Amino acid sequence: MNDKPFYVTTPIYYVNDKPHIGHAYTTVLADVLARIHRLFGRPTYFLTGTDEHGQKVQEAAARLGVTPQQHADATVVRFQEAWQKLEITNDDFIRTTQERHKAIVQEMLQDLFDRGEIYRAEYDGWYCVGDERFFTEKDLADGKCPVCGREVQRVREANYFFRMSKYQDWLVDYIQTHPEFIQPDFRRNETLGFLRKPLQDLCISRPKSRLSWGIELPFDRDYVTYVWFDALVNYVSAIGYRRDDARFAKWWPAVHLIGKDILTTHSVYWPCMLKAAGVEMPRTIFAHGWWLSGTAKMSKSLGNVVNPMDMMERYGVEPFRYFLLAEMVMGQDAAFTEDVFVRRYNADLANDLGNCLSRVASMVGKYCAGRLPAPEPGAFGPGAPAAELLARATAAAAALRDSADRYDLSSGIAQVMDAVRAINRFLEARQPWTQAKAADPAPLGTTLYAAADALRVCSGLLMPLMPQKMTALRIALGMDPAAAAAVDPEGLFAPARLAPGAQVTPPGALFPRIEPPKPAEEPKPAAAPAPAKPAAKAKPAAPAEPLPEGIISYDDFAKVHLRTAKIMTAEPIDGAVKLLKLGVWMGTERRQIVAGIALHYKPADLIGKTVVVVENLAPVKLRGVESQGMLLAASRGETLRLVTIDGDLSSGAVVK
Ligand code: ME8
Ligand code: MG
Repeated sequence: MNDKPFYVTTPIYYVNDKPHIGHAYTTVLADVLARIHRLFGRPTYFLTGTDEHGQKVQEAAARLGVTPQQHADATVVRFQEAWQKLEITNDDFIRTTQERHKAIVQEMLQDLFDRGEIYRAEYDGWYCVGDERFFTEKDLADGKCPVCGREVQRVREANYFFRMSKYQDWLVDYIQTHPEFIQPDFRRNETLGFLRKPLQDLCISRPKSRLSWGIELPFDRDYVTYVWFDALVNYVSAIGYRRDDARFAKWWPAVHLIGKDILTTHSVYWPCMLKAAGVEMPRTIFAHGWWLSGTAKMSKSLGNVVNPMDMMERYGVEPFRYFLLAEMVMGQDAAFTEDVFVRRYNADLANDLGNCLSRVASMVGKYCAGRLPAPEPGAFGPGAPAAELLARATAAAAALRDSADRYDLSSGIAQVMDAVRAINRFLEARQPWTQAKAADPAPLGTTLYAAADALRVCSGLLMPLMPQKMTALRIALGMDPAAAAAVDPEGLFAPARLAPGAQVTPPGALFPRIEPPKPAEEPKPAAAPAPAKPAAKAKPAAPAEPLPEGIISYDDFAKVHLRTAKIMTAEPIDGAVKLLKLGVWMGTERRQIVAGIALHYKPADLIGKTVVVVENLAPVKLRGVESQGMLLAASRGETLRLVTIDGDLSSGAVVK
């Protein structure tokens, strides 16, 4: 570990989304890294925020009949509240609609324009509305967007371009000579693979006629800035770039944590932008893997998918933080299921850690009248069992610190948990319950003191993951509350820092055991609510008596899986005046649905609408065209209206 300041960022999330496990993961990861660096005394700055311009926000606001700024102001709160709940210790929260950010973007643009790094040209190509990206004819996959598979529009217009192509050779060389720049290795190779094709110049403008919600180009008021050229700049605008040179120099270069979905924008566009602006490269771009959860496929194969954010509510914020980081090997994908969560919680937290504390505290209570006994003189001398136990714990301190530097936190956490298990084995080997019967109380004192002291080190190391739980644990060991909460880093590498005679209090259950969810006989229907907190919205019990005629049970209702879906394509079917063939996107898959709505909707008016689809209806053929599901619609007389979603929600959401 070095003493250089540590500046860590998360992506700035699209403000119109609802925070979900993916956002939570990156943000908790950044938080834990920041807390670990702070713990070991490294000056640390942690930035997160929201991406508020662009087509998606403009469209969502238009659907709601509010201005984009009003929409952003209303939705940003969801992120701010989520981060508060998750105990995120960000130093700043940047919003791209803030003046401090917009001004810097405009200055950068003007500077690049003045120096010929940005030029104006006629553009003729294909545009994907969903991804807000342009493609050449060659880029297209079967005439569709190569990223999302949706229809693209032919666009011919004048735009402004950033001369990104000229940085290609420099960038390849930089990446190859700076192995810490893009991590993990396979993401570096992915970027280099991308750079084997000729790099195009980047279109950085959008004509206001098409998109008005963005930062105006300072040199042409008819255009706004492409949302990525605006968003990436947040990483420097937040820390004083062009405003406070000393502050900027203190924190830059950054460590950017991102998901693998936005690798190219960060590992290609952003370095070229910085190079053109004459700014040093980021220290590291680390792209982590994907949490897989709640997809139709998973619910079928595992039968056990619940909303991870519900799990946080049910089992607690800090166990959730612990789980996210202990479970996911940084860089790789991981699946979130209740089973995996409960198993790890019970094994690591309820059993190994929780039991360790309650054994130590209850034995100090029983055998030592609640006062921490003193160790024997020489108990921590070379080769002594207590010294070996403490050496395990202090080695875990070094391992955790290194794992933060190597972006391999799950292995650092595993070492800390190994040290906790070593305490439990130490107790079993020394049998304090037998020692308590001996005439000489000294060996018992060593056993209980050493166990408590090793737990002091381990709890200090787990503090970045579970600050409140670990503070409570340390207070139970007899530490005074201030010392319990503010870990002394030096003490993580040294034995015998607890005060003999301190009052040890058996804690309440810190990590009450969770009853494992019953192995589902049949896959749980995706639409069934997760088993709720007691007294909250409990699932109605199966009625004992037969139901009145025409009334269905909850279980009957839950058999129908309803999901939101976005209509991507709509076309007439030859010879069927009432039918339309729709292509819908359900969040994880594309479906084709034939709907009898042609007399009520024009195909063009349907595209982009989010509707409700019966997902698990057996496929049928209508006029020879396969239909995989059904849209919900309301009709009376001649009028038919599709059931749509109130406000903004991504495709594939469960309707219940
Ligand atoms: O892309 N698993 O914002 P965004 C793990 N505004 N991480 C996930 C995830 C999952 N299933 N889903 C999302 C944007 N993430 C831009 C960023 S930055 C200058 C602009 C996380 O709201 C992951 O960090 O779509 C991913 O990169 C990010 O959310 C995308 O957030
Ligand atoms: Mg995204």
